[in-house]
Amino acid sequence: MAKNRRFSRRNVLKYSALGGAIVGGGYAANRYFNAPEQADVISALPLPIPPLMTGTKIEGKTIYNLTAQKGVSSFVKDQDTQTFGYNGNYLGPTISMQKGDDVALNVTNNLGEPTTVHWHGIHLPAKMDGGPHQTIASGETWQPEFKMQNEAATYFYHSHMMHKTDEQVYKGLAGMLIVHDSQSSLDLPDVYGVDDFPLIVQDKDFSANGDMNYSAAIEGVKGNTILANGANMPELEAPAQFVRLRLLNASNARMYNFGFSDNRSFHQIASDGGLLAKPVEMTRLLLSPAERGEILVDLSGQENTRLRLVSYSNEIANLTPFWAKDALDRKAFDILSISVGPSLPIATKQIPENLAIINQLSEQSASVTRQFELKMGLFSGSMTINGLEMDIDRIDHTVKLGDIEIWEISNPADLAHPFHIHDIQFQILARDGNPPPENERGWKDVVLVKKGETVRVIAQFNDFADPETPFMFHCHILEHEDNGMMGQFLVV
Ligand code: C2O
Ligand code: CU
Ligand code: CU
Repeated sequence: MAKNRRFSRRNVLKYSALGGAIVGGGYAANRYFNAPEQADVISALPLPIPPLMTGTKIEGKTIYNLTAQKGVSSFVKDQDTQTFGYNGNYLGPTISMQKGDDVALNVTNNLGEPTTVHWHGIHLPAKMDGGPHQTIASGETWQPEFKMQNEAATYFYHSHMMHKTDEQVYKGLAGMLIVHDSQSSLDLPDVYGVDDFPLIVQDKDFSANGDMNYSAAIEGVKGNTILANGANMPELEAPAQFVRLRLLNASNARMYNFGFSDNRSFHQIASDGGLLAKPVEMTRLLLSPAERGEILVDLSGQENTRLRLVSYSNEIANLTPFWAKDALDRKAFDILSISVGPSLPIATKQIPENLAIINQLSEQSASVTRQFELKMGLFSGSMTINGLEMDIDRIDHTVKLGDIEIWEISNPADLAHPFHIHDIQFQILARDGNPPPENERGWKDVVLVKKGETVRVIAQFNDFADPETPFMFHCHILEHEDNGMMGQFLVV
């Protein structure tokens, strides 16, 4: 049987050793509960800003060219690491699209192995989605086209190659996609790389010679080196004014509990699929894999000061069982250092009070309620939804075009799973019967379903019917997705 197809024996064993000794254990709990270290070492590396790709307008369409390719990158100690990237060695350009535009992409695969490119969070026809059914053979070019209908927000593109997503994304096949809305008159920081910064956060494991260690593990692959836009603990020089950080958790499995080294508060202004109704003030923002959050940080009057973006992972309770935690899960660790420079002539002077009007979908309007139970077989390594592993030849659900549906996702045990639905943006109705926190009341395409929890979400399935090509729903811990915790639905 192919059950443990991709987990090495060591990783399954480590897992089976639950209750007994933990292989490679011996962690001293207290050591990891430190406050973040002071950054007295001045980091030399500036935060890399992925190039912005705005496309070329030809006959009413905006055209983008992406090539998935092999590369060599250097992350630690000037050692060479074999990587994948789009139009470069690692990660990809930030694709900028305008709401309402007709877009067309030429996606060429020069990897030497099949891949796909998925437009995560984007509402489009299933054939254009870039999921497991839109494989691009080595050497070929795929040409999806669609109208950008999404709200302005921060999205994500990445490989979705069946059984290979985890490894291909880990090696670098991921990038940010920003949707802009030219109709919006809100005064928010929006000059890319000037007061509006992309921040792709990932974790990797490097061996002594610089190779990326990739070996699938049942709890998902986590690395001990944190990268921001592909650099380890880089430094961002930011102007002394309101700045926007577009946080994208592009890690295979790690969650981040974002905050700042001085515990200052900040405002979340957008969730996965659009602006929130109002800015939400907070000191911590938890993002699980594939979740995005746009935050505003007030640096006004703070020229010549420094601070750090930190993940206070040690404060996260009840998400990760002890056996699935690594050293970083037990501490607060640095992600980015920020040095505040002079302010610019153009600056957002205050945060708008209202950001967006979000039409709440009512439970009464839903015609169907579906249940999804996420399960991992602790000893078998099986990953299922409603008891079934992903089968590319099986349609799990058929949704009627235009219907509003409620999906109830439950996680009876073990670790938290970030559940993602393609095609749509949903609203969270309830977490275990309680209304979601304020920053989860906007549009979402990934929701973290905690241990023992049932989350109810509501969505409308509009515009694109296709009786043959399904969309996916899955856990966004990539090792879970690739090993079966995924299913397919049609919209007809
Ligand atoms: Cu981020 Cu199925 O995708
Ligand atoms: Cu997706
Ligand atoms: Cu999972």
